[in-house]
Amino acid sequence: MNNPLIPTDSPSGPGKEGRSRSEAPNADADPAPAVSDRAARLASIPSFRRLERYISQLGPRWQTAGCDFTFGNPHQMPPDRFVNTLRDALRPQNDQWFAYQTNAAPAREAAAESLQRLLDVPFRPDDIYLTTGGFAAIALALKTVADPGDEVIYSLPPWFLYEPLVLEAGLVPVKVTINTTTFDLDLAAIEAAITERTRVVIINTPNNPTGRIYPPSLLLRLAELLETASARIGRRIYLVSDEPYNRIVYDGLRFHSPVEFYPYTLLAYSYGKTHLSPGERVGYLALPPTMPRRHELRPAINSLQVAMGWVYPNALLQHALPELEKFSIDVNQLQHRRDRLVSALGSMGYRIWPPEGAFYLYAPSPILDDEAFTESLARRNVFVLPGVLFETPGFFRISLTANEDMIERSLPAFEAAMKASTA
Ligand SMILES: Cc1ncc(COP(=O)(O)O)c(C=O)c1O
Repeated sequence: MNNPLIPTDSPSGPGKEGRSRSEAPNADADPAPAVSDRAARLASIPSFRRLERYISQLGPRWQTAGCDFTFGNPHQMPPDRFVNTLRDALRPQNDQWFAYQTNAAPAREAAAESLQRLLDVPFRPDDIYLTTGGFAAIALALKTVADPGDEVIYSLPPWFLYEPLVLEAGLVPVKVTINTTTFDLDLAAIEAAITERTRVVIINTPNNPTGRIYPPSLLLRLAELLETASARIGRRIYLVSDEPYNRIVYDGLRFHSPVEFYPYTLLAYSYGKTHLSPGERVGYLALPPTMPRRHELRPAINSLQVAMGWVYPNALLQHALPELEKFSIDVNQLQHRRDRLVSALGSMGYRIWPPEGAFYLYAPSPILDDEAFTESLARRNVFVLPGVLFETPGFFRISLTANEDMIERSLPAFEAAMKASTA
């Protein structure tokens, strides 16, 4: 792009030919920004900036002495079975073991079988596209079906990185709010947000941060709504079902995916939650066998996986995947932590609804200013995330991936912060 500050007909402007070496423009004196418009726009997303500020201000403290309830990171040693699985996958079985690896057939088969067991939907191995975790699966889904300028609807509070992924793809985020009392999707709000430019609706169940698992009746109504709206605008609206927590479900509940109700659903999954190992980047995008025109999507997804920067998991993780499919972190342990916190904080006066799945408790802040409340906890060495980071002020999020010791040590601080807020 031309720099509007330098007229093209000026002696120092671009496009001037026949200069001597000494007259050559000094590229480092170029007053135009060094970064692309796209990068500048991404770097200035308010929710992204807020998140970065929060991490840089408080991160050093929660990483040392604090009770860390911030992000879904592990706070205990990984299980031996996980480590042994990676170690076994590291041992080469042939000379191609670490060759360029696209979508490895054994990994695809294992993922398809596992999805079929979970959802009772007969996924086909060649409809599984292995990615570097859920991030890449969502980005791949968006770029497969949406073009720059298309609108993407999602609900607040969201996973905080939808907005960068949507903007990076050149798409337009359209935000609606969930019902903050029931934590259910607000279908009327989604319907009202649909325009002729709408191409994708993202939903996340089990939900981060609310812990809600959307029931079949709601998913069915969402499917009907999207079917009707697609017919009305004369263009298909796709659903991206972001479900990295679909194995983290409490109280023996059965998880239902939107793919069971709406065939135009692209399912994004990550093993980073199932094994509480988000630094090991492996996940996938899956198309259900009911997806119409899959034959058109397949070559498009294959090309995008390369063009987006080879977003396949490392060969090691692909070799490990069939074994990784056989186990998960201890969900009962997470459920005990949930129960301990819900009952202890409930008895202190916090209004906490027990999550049905995922890693988090999301609760109203005892004072309206959720940042002030989380600061009051931080002064007591307990670190949670304020609702403002999820674009829903007035709430706060606790991650259940903190260990038992942190939970017990944090309780006096939660009590003191509650007393201070009602004093
Ligand atoms: C709702 C949701 N979607 C997607 C992701 C991305 O998962 P991953 O880091 O494993 O790619 C996360 C991670 O926190 C998440 O909470």
